[in-house]
Amino acid sequence: MNISRGFLVIGSLCLLVGVLLGSYMGGSGDHSLAPVHAHINLLGFTLMTLFGLAYRVMPGMAGTMLGRAHFWLHQAGALVMLVSLFLMMNGQLPEATAGMVLPVAEVVVFLGMACWSVNLLRHA
Ligand code: HEM
Ligand code: HEM
Repeated sequence: MNISRGFLVIGSLCLLVGVLLGSYMGGSGDHSLAPVHAHINLLGFTLMTLFGLAYRVMPGMAGTMLGRAHFWLHQAGALVMLVSLFLMMNGQLPEATAGMVLPVAEVVVFLGMACWSVNLLRHA
């Protein structure tokens, strides 16, 4: 698994979804999903593209356990977080359920970022 390519490809898919959602909001005038749109674009496209490029520039970080842990924690956490947020803001997931799921997903994303920081300190 090439995590640089993984981050770049999945980031580009997030950009497509984020921009489609932005266009829908612009067209419909309903901006209620703006936080979902913002985080698909930022946590998805922007951060993943930054990580993908960084792992390309510093390949020594990509082959480590920390790099792999970062990749999978970010993917799993961001996916659960963004899908739950979308469903909650769309009224399809009760707030009480989202209130239990979102903090777990956020901790998972955070742990991935902690792996990224330790990896940087050790190998950058
Ligand atoms: C064709 C592309 C895009 C369209 C049509 C679009 C459309 C929108 C719309 C309609 C809003 C709601 C604005 C409001 O309610 O005040 C919004 C908010 C936002 N968009 Fe986009 N967007 C696009 C691309 C992007 C991209 C590429 C990013 C980031 C990389 C981005 C980041 C954001 C952020 C952070 C907000 C929230 C701003 C706030 O709440 O203050 N958007 N966008
Ligand atoms: C686990 C990660 C994250 C969590 C839990 C989180 C949480 C939040 C929350 C609760 C808000 C307020 C939303 C509102 O008032 O409607 C917010 C807004 C915002 N966040 Fe994040 N965020 C995360 C990651 C990020 C990242 C990585 C970026 C940028 C690279 C970012 C950029 C923004 C921006 C620009 C806004 C204002 C846009 C808006 O109000 O819709 N966030 N975030």
